[in-house]
Formats: sequence, structure tokens, C-alpha cells
Amino acid sequence: MKTITSVQEIRTVIAQARRQGKRIGLVPTMGNLHQGHMSLIQKACEYADFVVASIFVNPLQFGINEDLDSYPRTLEQDQEKLRAAGCSLLFHPNVEEMYPTGMQEQTLVHVPSVSAGLCGAKRPGHFDGVATVVSKLFNIVQPDIAVFGEKDFQQLAVIRKLVADMNLPIQVFGAPIVRAEDGLALSSRNQYLTTEQRASAPALHNALVQLVDSILHGETDFTKLIETTNKALSNVGFKPDYLEIRDELTLEPATTNTKQGVVLAAAYLGSTRLIDNLTYHLN
Ligand code: PAF
Repeated sequence: MKTITSVQEIRTVIAQARRQGKRIGLVPTMGNLHQGHMSLIQKACEYADFVVASIFVNPLQFGINEDLDSYPRTLEQDQEKLRAAGCSLLFHPNVEEMYPTGMQEQTLVHVPSVSAGLCGAKRPGHFDGVATVVSKLFNIVQPDIAVFGEKDFQQLAVIRKLVADMNLPIQVFGAPIVRAEDGLALSSRNQYLTTEQRASAPALHNALVQLVDSILHGETDFTKLIETTNKALSNVGFKPDYLEIRDELTLEPATTNTKQGVVLAAAYLGSTRLIDNLTYHLN
């Protein structure tokens, strides 16, 4: 598996693969790869025969007080994992390659509606940064398919809308959340947790399971459900950031008539912000 750092070279290599009739898949990542990322590569391998992974810690999607500088960078281990998973090519550009005129001068892509609220409200500019870098990666690689994790549920909705609104000929696949045995959703940020925080962390998933269970058993008072769940999270040391029940497809606030819903949460353990979500379907 070759690692390429320049836009020009990756275009040449992908053009060759395309001439050989290969179907191109893209899995954009920020590196520090874990089993969750590997499941994205596996899914891409199911639908494409030339799978490109990108590793780029995108400064444009980090807020000023966020963890850009400390975000774990583990290139060699990542290359090893990608090779073992059957990835064909790694694109690993630096910031100058992606933003040659500087970030202030970069044209931004804004995806309305689905970018607002939830993480969009808590991390201003975050989804513009994501939509911009993903648009650039789509234009550089021109994949037939692309795979993103359902753990970043709102991000996946943003990308699906971006692709639809801009008529991009790319099929977007979501891959299910991969969890540790105790239920914690895998995330590069889990490694920031202390031993004690790691022990409390599965409570976030458990809280969502209980909340969804209540809805499936007929509870219709969403305000009460959210209050109770936030209290339960606070009791085990979380500082809830948001907890919302939304329509799975539109991300509009759910009502008792919503048949396909999703509960989305972000909560801090110390200074580490964890996110998780759980969908539910009513008959
Ligand atoms: O989910 C991520 O790792 C990032 O937001 C992405 C999609 C690679 C864009 O930088």
C-alpha cells in the first residue's frame, strides 16, 4: 500500500486505477485508527475494488479551544492497519497541500439545516470545516463510493445532504458504530480518559439504551425522559452537553408521531467530550 502526500500524484495514480476499470472507494479519516475505522475500510472493500483511505487532521474543523495540537497522530501504526485491512492507497497530505492559500482564504462549504443544532450548535464552524475538507477530498479522489461512521450521525447527515445538493455522483454508505465489550463507542478520543473515567464511560451508551427502551415501551413525555437521563449521567460523573431525540432521516426534533427516531448525546467526562447515538423504530 503506497502512501501519497500530493494532490497531483494521487490524481495520477487514481486515473490509472480508473483506466483499469476499478471502482474507487474513499474512507476519509483523521488517523489514529481503531476497529471502528477498520469496519469502514471493510465496508468500502465490499463495494469498491480500489480503496483509498485518507488521513488528515483537518484544522478547519477544530475550534480554538479544541484538541487540534494534541490529537493523536500515529501514522506508522495506521499504515500497518490499513495495509492489513486491504486498503489500496493512503492519501496523507499536510496542511499546506490541502490549504495552499491558507485557511482564511479557503472557500468554505456550508450545508444548511442539518449542520445547525446538536454538535453544530456546540462547535460553531465545525461542520463547515468537515463539509469543506470532505468536498475537497471528493474532488481530489473522485470516488464512486465513500464510507463514513454512523457514530458521527450528524456528520453523516451533513455529508449525505452535501452529496445530494451538489449532485455528486458518489454513493455514501454509513457503517454501524463499533463498540467495546462494555458498550462504549470506539473513538480516538477515548484514550484521553483516565482509568476511572474509562470505567464510567459506558454509562453514556447505557443511558441511551434505557431512554430508547422507555420510548419503545410507550413513554411519550420526551422532556421528562431527557431530564431523567441527564440526571442519571450527571450522577456517574458526566457533564451532559446535549441530549436530544430527533427524526432519524431529517434530524428535525422528534415528536410522538416519529416512527424512525434517533437519540443523540454529547457529554463530558473531565475535559473529554464523548458522543454517541442510538436509533429506534416504532411500528
Ligand atoms: O470523521 C472524521 O474523522 C472527520 O470529521 C472527517 C470525515 C475525516 C473529515 O475530516
